[in-house]
Amino acid sequence: MVTQPPAELVQQLQDYFISKVGLGSKLQWPTFENRLTQHYAAAARAFYNVYGFGEQTQLQFKSILQTVLSAWIQRADDLHKLDEKREAQHDWFNSHQMVGASCYIDLFAGSLQNLRERIPYLVELGITYLYVLPFFKSPEGENDGGFAVSSYKEVDPRLGTMEDLDALTRDFREYGISLVVDFVLNHTSNEHEWAIAAADNHPVYRHYYHIFDHDQIDLVEQYKQTASNPFPDQGDAINFNPQMNKWVWSAFYRYQWDLNYSNPAVFEAMLDNALFLVNRGVEVLRLDAVPLIWKKLGTACVSEPESYRIVEAYRALIAMAAPAVGFKSEAIMDPPSVMGFLGKGKCDIAYRPVLASNLFEALATGNAQFLSYCAQKWQILPEGSTWLNYVNHHDDFSWCFSNYDFTTLHFGQDPEELRRRLNRFYTGQDGNSFARGLPFQYEERNGYGRIAGTLASLLGLEKAAIEGNRLGMLMAIRRINLVHGVLLSIGGLPMIFLGQELGVLNNYRYLENEAQKSDSRWVHRLKKDWGFDQKRIEKPSSPGAMILNFFKQAVTIRKTQHVLAGTRLSVLNTGCPSIFAFVRGKGKERILVIANLSHFAEVISSSVFSAIGFNQSVTELLNNQCLSLADDIEIPAYGIGWYKLNGAD
Ligand code: GLC
Repeated sequence: MVTQPPAELVQQLQDYFISKVGLGSKLQWPTFENRLTQHYAAAARAFYNVYGFGEQTQLQFKSILQTVLSAWIQRADDLHKLDEKREAQHDWFNSHQMVGASCYIDLFAGSLQNLRERIPYLVELGITYLYVLPFFKSPEGENDGGFAVSSYKEVDPRLGTMEDLDALTRDFREYGISLVVDFVLNHTSNEHEWAIAAADNHPVYRHYYHIFDHDQIDLVEQYKQTASNPFPDQGDAINFNPQMNKWVWSAFYRYQWDLNYSNPAVFEAMLDNALFLVNRGVEVLRLDAVPLIWKKLGTACVSEPESYRIVEAYRALIAMAAPAVGFKSEAIMDPPSVMGFLGKGKCDIAYRPVLASNLFEALATGNAQFLSYCAQKWQILPEGSTWLNYVNHHDDFSWCFSNYDFTTLHFGQDPEELRRRLNRFYTGQDGNSFARGLPFQYEERNGYGRIAGTLASLLGLEKAAIEGNRLGMLMAIRRINLVHGVLLSIGGLPMIFLGQELGVLNNYRYLENEAQKSDSRWVHRLKKDWGFDQKRIEKPSSPGAMILNFFKQAVTIRKTQHVLAGTRLSVLNTGCPSIFAFVRGKGKERILVIANLSHFAEVISSSVFSAIGFNQSVTELLNNQCLSLADDIEIPAYGIGWYKLNGAD
């Protein structure tokens, strides 16, 4: 078993260090050597596990370590300082001070430079973690919102330059905002230089992708039988490319070619890209579509053991050069599948799609039991990791609860039927629905599908506004505030998709855009109109202002309540199916959150509070109101409260 880096290897790396920086440098060799010693075993174990312990792979691993060392040498001084700070405080992302947001740079600000000018708005919202969608060079026209990357080292000229990125991350650091960027590791665009060479049958680069010759049709068919196909609207996972007269693995769009990680050269080349990015000051790498990176015949090609090992190897290697950097997994799956990517040596942060599914389900049915069940069950995470809590992001959302959980709670019921029902509800096909969502990747034959739409349109604001239904609008605003109130208190890192804080509605203009019209997710990817948004909130009674003010207030309070850090909670059974209630913190330092997911007011008996020692004077923090929980209380339709014991600081 590998534990320590061999002395000879350490010596070679030290010689390399001296040859590059000389002895008088500010950088101290022992700093790197310590990190090398700390992470070597994890990196080597994972790498050799995937690629074998051959002569060739050993040489390759050595070259990889040299790449890592040179990235460390090139790292800027202020990033070295950040590394030290984060090493001392390794779960910084679990703090109650953290609040996340995401945006497309062009839609939110226009360019990287302009994004710097929008920092005051981010500060006003309390944002400390900003995930920006990919801004790299990518094909004109269709490019999957930038996820078809043509060069990981060049910024899309429409958005700026790498120097602008450096300046942005510097400014962000000053304001305490961590920049989160995609490490789009599953695929490149077909315009990436590797892909262009591969299309030309280049002897090296053709092995960077999964390309099949015409006479390999049987193999292609075998793979296709079991391989998952995330974008069924776009064809199969492996598609025929007529120009090449070959088959190319392209699980998403046909212009996104899946990289071949069974080739260690791909591993190394992508590591180099990741190191390049983190040295620009990116603080968290979002591992885009990470479950799909390993393909294995006869399987769904999702979350194969090798995918985890590759993440572990990247993690350990990047920790040697840039220990400040966190990893976030993008696995939009049920909780057990997501969990596999979380934990020490893997990802620090993982999307928590089950929470979004549960919240939407509870709001549609008025029943919070499944939400309560899953919240209780999926709160314990590997040490030092956290959930990313969101309901809306740039993507669609899907019903990512586990069938096992559902049938445990609702014995004899069909989880697929629930998913179909919810799809009908959120696309407004159900007569009682308040939602105006659009189907995404809907499959007629089985009713499977996902949903696109802004949070406000999904939760009823669009429909009520069109109908001029004031009560409907009020209910929609309350639903949105409830969701924000839960995201900000439940435990984990809350993240909004910018625009959500103002209750923006779907925009159907994407249908007029050739490059977007076949992808309904563009209905909620909106260009920010700063002037219009300002007007929208001028009247305090306008929906935008009511949503924004609630959000800002809840963020401000969150940041003062240290018991809201971490992910642990205790779900409270109130006996009312529509109530979702949980306690954060311990002893006197506790906050009780109560949310009513239904359209009707609910009374909660004081006996529920006495059972947990809350039958006393409390402050409801969101409205700053003192009350006593020695009495029954009524929670209005879609109401939410954060109750804190008085007397505790
Ligand atoms: C991720 C992204 C999504 C994109 C896909 C392919 O799931 O979030 O927007 O379409 O990867 O890159």
